[in-house]
Amino acid sequence: MTQHYRITLLPGDGIGPEIMAVTITVLKEVGQQLGIGFDFTEALIGGAAIDATGNPLPPETLDTCKASDAVLLAAIGGYKWDALPNDQRPERGLLGLRAGLNLFANLRPAQILPQLIDASTLKREVVEGVDIMVVRELTGGIYFGQPRGIFETKTGERRGINTMVYAEAEIERIGRVAFEAARKRRKRLCSVDKANVLDVSQLWRERMTALAADYPDVELTHLYVDNAAMQLLRAPTQFDTIVTGNLFGDILSDAAAMLTGSIGMLPSASLGASGPGVFEPVHGSAPDIAGQDLANPLAQVLSAAMMLRYGLNEPAAGDRLEAAVQTVLNQGYRTGDIASEGTTRVGCQAMGNALLKALEEPR
Ligand code: IPM
Ligand code: MG
Repeated sequence: MTQHYRITLLPGDGIGPEIMAVTITVLKEVGQQLGIGFDFTEALIGGAAIDATGNPLPPETLDTCKASDAVLLAAIGGYKWDALPNDQRPERGLLGLRAGLNLFANLRPAQILPQLIDASTLKREVVEGVDIMVVRELTGGIYFGQPRGIFETKTGERRGINTMVYAEAEIERIGRVAFEAARKRRKRLCSVDKANVLDVSQLWRERMTALAADYPDVELTHLYVDNAAMQLLRAPTQFDTIVTGNLFGDILSDAAAMLTGSIGMLPSASLGASGPGVFEPVHGSAPDIAGQDLANPLAQVLSAAMMLRYGLNEPAAGDRLEAAVQTVLNQGYRTGDIASEGTTRVGCQAMGNALLKALEEPR
């Protein structure tokens, strides 16, 4: 073995354990092929952690993550925990993990695969060629701003409050990640805000504009978030790299994901200035199909590819996983979420077996 990595696995809830199991088998295979050793440690997060410990992010989990080279996360949440108060929900675990590891930069690529173009709800001519990178700020903005909470006023009426706040340094560090990402792509960066209404967005726009001076090779444009949502559906190929705050990025990355036909195909990377990153699918835990071998494991596998590329600096291994995904799609294998006429419908495990076969094929 030339390299050995400590990977924390967080399978979480719903379909999480199923897609994680498939991903581990393909990771092991690719590791064996390239002489990369993985030391996997599983830890609890989300609903599974609530059930076992009462805490969606047990301190041991955060410690294990901090001590690893990268964290591979599947999905969290489900109906079972929906009635819990906000501060005890599975989502808290995920937010705590992002904050605890200081993962301020979330990279969410949305690329249409030619094999899946008919799975998109939009017309072929609209989505053909879509290749977008959403860079979402992940540890600030309205998700974490203070004050927050539900407070009772003197009259006994309750008021719910969240605060959208960005300090200049927070804007600049995510801005730099986005300019760098755009530089490696088609050199166009669109910053999305609501500067016509929000003060926080005015500062955002001002700082992004100032940063552009350091990246003369990147073309910076600005859009208001409502217009950006519209443009994403109207003419998505106009976008290359998008940079935006936490809440707008949450919404726009789901929209961008859907352009590609299935949110079940999209990986993401969450990175800090140093330390381990977290790599997870954009999709959720799909409790409606959990435990039935119906889930699409490809976003999880592609998240492992992002982990190899961005987290462990093993791009060749990442390439192999991505190539295997292409191969199984070319062979016509589809889980239910991406199935169309003339394709072979398979379950989660069978998709995993097809990936293994694709990896074993001589190149
Ligand atoms: C996402 C999810 C999370 C978010 C939830 C589960 C807290 O929607 O990763 O996009 O809002 O960030
Ligand atoms: Mg989301």
